[in-house]
Amino acid sequence: MGKIHELSAVLADQIAAGEVIENPAAVVKELVENSLDAGSHRIDIILEESGLATIQVIDDGSGIAVDDLALAFKRHATSKITGKKDLFRVQTLGFRGEALPSIASVADVIVESKTTAASAGAMIHLRGGEILAQEAAASRQGTQITVRDLFFNTPVRLKYLKSPNTELANITDIVNRLALGHPEVAFSLTHNGRSLLQTVGNGKLQQVLSAIYGVTTARQMIPVGRQDQDFQISGFVSLPKLTRASRNYISLLINGRYVKSHTLLRAVAAGYGSKLMVGRYPLAVLNIELDFQLVDVNVHPTKQEVRISKEEQLAQLIKAAIQASLPPKI
Ligand SMILES: Nc1ncnc2c1ncn2[C@@H]1O[C@H](COP(=O)(O)OP(=O)(O)O)[C@@H](O)[C@H]1O
Ligand SMILES: [Mg+2]
Repeated sequence: MGKIHELSAVLADQIAAGEVIENPAAVVKELVENSLDAGSHRIDIILEESGLATIQVIDDGSGIAVDDLALAFKRHATSKITGKKDLFRVQTLGFRGEALPSIASVADVIVESKTTAASAGAMIHLRGGEILAQEAAASRQGTQITVRDLFFNTPVRLKYLKSPNTELANITDIVNRLALGHPEVAFSLTHNGRSLLQTVGNGKLQQVLSAIYGVTTARQMIPVGRQDQDFQISGFVSLPKLTRASRNYISLLINGRYVKSHTLLRAVAAGYGSKLMVGRYPLAVLNIELDFQLVDVNVHPTKQEVRISKEEQLAQLIKAAIQASLPPKI
């Protein structure tokens, strides 16, 4: 008699959640990325108690069709890719079909959504991966997701979370970076009734920088832009006198996706050369556009690490772009 058996769907989702949904910030990231993929112009994020009590994301995007609502919570269910060839030219932020089932397996989730084509919307309520209710709802166009009691059924995960302030800082950090990557979208972030970020969505990156860092700081940032046959870089970097003690204020976005890359971070610093004091780092936001086939986004479950073909060429281009835009050393 064999001893191998298939895991239940809920258990499989909880295992995936271990990788994809590390903390409240990961939930916010996944939900906002879904809103961006849905072509939203406006995304409102409302938090209570650093996201542990409530995370609500409201968008005005395409919405989810009534028939798709339950399917969206099935593992590996996605509207974003179909065949193998799509995997090597992913044009959306999501594609693994893991986020919603993972979140629902470790929280209480209510989704209300309506597409343009539908006359009425619908809602679905899940808790710990089980569907509790599904019915028609008088929704507005777009999607509203409310996540409550995050990690209620995974006490160890809950125990190892950082302090509420740190968890909130992580959320703010990821929302800031998503807003920097999408100046055409109006973002708002509210925590316990207090506004933490509001961008207007007029497509101007400098407006987003002002909203995040304040007008004075934004004024000390200068535009960068450069391209070669493979890459197109645009963004803003701080004048050498405006620095921070960590690399956290450098955001690199590849086709609108915030990514972590040591090589590219080093290239940013290299662009400053000796203009930076030891241990100091600039503020920067660089949007890098490239052919979707030049980047493999299927490297890590959270998709923050990517593999870029010709990464060294891109690093040189970043360095040159920054060198060219900074004023000469006095
Ligand atoms: N805010 C949203 N607006 C419209 N559709 C959504 C939204 N969130 C999720 N969806 C739909 O639910 C599906 C599953 O979402 P998710 O689990 O995050 O997987 P993925 O984003 O990898 O496809 C998506 O492919 C999309 O069709
Ligand atoms: Mg997704």
